[in-house]
Amino acid sequence: MNLLNSFSFELPTKIEYGIGAVERLAEIIKALNAESLLVVTDKGIRNSGLLERISNLLDANKLAHNIFDNVEPNPKDYNVQEGAEMAKRLNPDCLVTVGGGSPIDCAKAIAVVARQGGAARDYVGPDKIGGDVLPLIAIPTTAGTGSEVTFSSVITDSKEKYKFSIKDSKIAPKVALVDPEMTLTMPPGLTAATGMDALTHAIEGFTANAAEPIADSAALYAIELITAYLRAAVSDGSNLEARAGMLLGSVLAGIAFSHSDVAAVHCVAEALGGKYDAAHGVCNAVVLPAVMEYNLDYCKDRYARIAAAMGLSYENVEEGARQAVKAVQKLASDVHLPEFGSLGVQEKDFEELALNSFKNGSNIDNPRPMTEEDYLNLFRVLSG
Ligand SMILES: [Fe+2]
Repeated sequence: MNLLNSFSFELPTKIEYGIGAVERLAEIIKALNAESLLVVTDKGIRNSGLLERISNLLDANKLAHNIFDNVEPNPKDYNVQEGAEMAKRLNPDCLVTVGGGSPIDCAKAIAVVARQGGAARDYVGPDKIGGDVLPLIAIPTTAGTGSEVTFSSVITDSKEKYKFSIKDSKIAPKVALVDPEMTLTMPPGLTAATGMDALTHAIEGFTANAAEPIADSAALYAIELITAYLRAAVSDGSNLEARAGMLLGSVLAGIAFSHSDVAAVHCVAEALGGKYDAAHGVCNAVVLPAVMEYNLDYCKDRYARIAAAMGLSYENVEEGARQAVKAVQKLASDVHLPEFGSLGVQEKDFEELALNSFKNGSNIDNPRPMTEEDYLNLFRVLSG
């Protein structure tokens, strides 16, 4: 960072963090002057019992609410449409979203479409959201997405099978209710995959061309927390300290990448998620070490600082940078993330995947330039 460069930093989301913080939901809703609510979630959250906890809290405080629980993994454009139609019909004062990245991202898009009409796709690009959007309270149940504090919503175009992003500070939740207890029910595989997503946000946020100093500081602490706690959270899901470390790490990583950017790992992960409906965290985890290798010569200093945040010592920058790549690879394997082969990626799709990765808006922020051909080579290396 050149200290003579200027930057701006905006965080429109109020973060309420704490063990049991979710008990304050009614108080937070009342502070927003909201009386009627639409809860946006998915079937997994309903089945886990977490939705019941939220519903009971709302009932106990006589807060009228309806539930939209049709959000699918890698939320689809038609999920947004259905949720927005429901919101238009019920006209709630506020949305409350409970879940991982899928419900939160879907709720952000519903907040726009319910108030301004059209479809989610209409709001891609700068300054497309003219008027106001429904206020949103986000309660994350995974430690990965960071969507509770970010300005972006990633939605799958169900016909063309690719992901697009709405990016605008207007869609950031008004309040993020960040309670580690809400992540205790996550099974080990989901804990590992979402945790690697958070690590990818921190690493890409820290090394992206759009990096800036407040995002940098959030990213480095996120890397420290995730390195310290991911293995423990995966091996014993009831370890509340590990859950807390991971959730805080994921919030900080979310702050980092939404003020900086993600880069080539997410370009590939989003292409894979759009095409095969593959789990986002798994896609990131299998791609991250290979992209770090590719980028290494272009951001050695930064990779060495990542190694330091991971608790590693080294003689020189070159060694530190290489250690960071190895440590990320080891972390992914220690938490039993599957290999690239498990995603079922077909060679006949490589060109389409490379094109969609290249066209992703975050490609420009990868520290080493990546052409369509470079992405094609990456897919060949990964499937090697
Ligand atoms: Fe991500």
